[in-house]
Amino acid sequence: MSNRYTHGHHESVLRSHRRRTAENSAGYLVPHLSGDQDLLDVGCGPGTITVDLAARVRRVTALEVSEPALQLARETATAAGVANIDFAIGDAQHLDLPDACFDVVHAHQVLQHLADPVAALREMIRVTRPGGLVAVRDADYHGFIWYPAVPGLDRWLELYQEVARANHAEPDAGRHLYAWALAAVGDASTGSAAEVIPSASAWCFATEADRSWWSESWAARATESDFAEQAREAGHPDTELAAIAAAWREWGASPGGWLLIPHGEVLIRTQ
Ligand SMILES: C[S@@+](CC[C@H](N)C(=O)[O-])C[C@H]1O[C@@H](n2cnc3c(N)ncnc32)[C@H](O)[C@@H]1O
Repeated sequence: MSNRYTHGHHESVLRSHRRRTAENSAGYLVPHLSGDQDLLDVGCGPGTITVDLAARVRRVTALEVSEPALQLARETATAAGVANIDFAIGDAQHLDLPDACFDVVHAHQVLQHLADPVAALREMIRVTRPGGLVAVRDADYHGFIWYPAVPGLDRWLELYQEVARANHAEPDAGRHLYAWALAAVGDASTGSAAEVIPSASAWCFATEADRSWWSESWAARATESDFAEQAREAGHPDTELAAIAAAWREWGASPGGWLLIPHGEVLIRTQ
């Protein structure tokens, strides 16, 4: 089953993705990285995490299903003066790569967008060398907690779930990751994996600067991005999308406003 990427690569989406670093998005993996490893970053997007990971390992392959996204990752690497990254087009669910060719295979906020995340995990395990690591992290949208209560944000969450699920995606992937990893490991075709290690971490946006950045990004995403286009295609009028944008701005302007975004994480140590 093929599926459409819910967010697309509108500037408002990239604004959000470009704040990501190895520290704030791959903290569970960083202690396991070393300069003798080759790493595959699946669904690298604009590549800010990729560039950070490249500083910690020997060589990185940045893989994307989207050529425009891969081009953004190339530009991020060039701007950062990072030269140990190769760039490749591919689909996480059918990697055109030999078995056992990477020490670490990483995917951040990718499995939630796939129609078959377990197939992607099997592929990630397949291309990892024995004793290597597969590392995945995804948000869980129903787990978002915010303050103060803004009714328009409840509507945003419902609409996000509807649009993502119409794309055969799983917006609550965070809570599914461990079960998906166990299913992938249990599949005989991948061999056996020694260890599946679940963990969790969160992003918290609360300062005025963080609230302004997140709320303006989502206000624009609600009206201008691929998400907005898909919502319109599903019959949601511009007035509804404008109300969601206004709700994000209301939250952003609320003194003491606070947002928690929980993430599931899994490390799979291959055998
Ligand atoms: C939410 S973004 C995450 C980007 C990056 N990992 C980060 O966290 O900043 C998800 C990315 O996965 C890519 N993607 C979606 N489906 C994919 C697939 N089947 N194979 C590889 N990449 C895919 C999208 O193009 C998008 O750039």
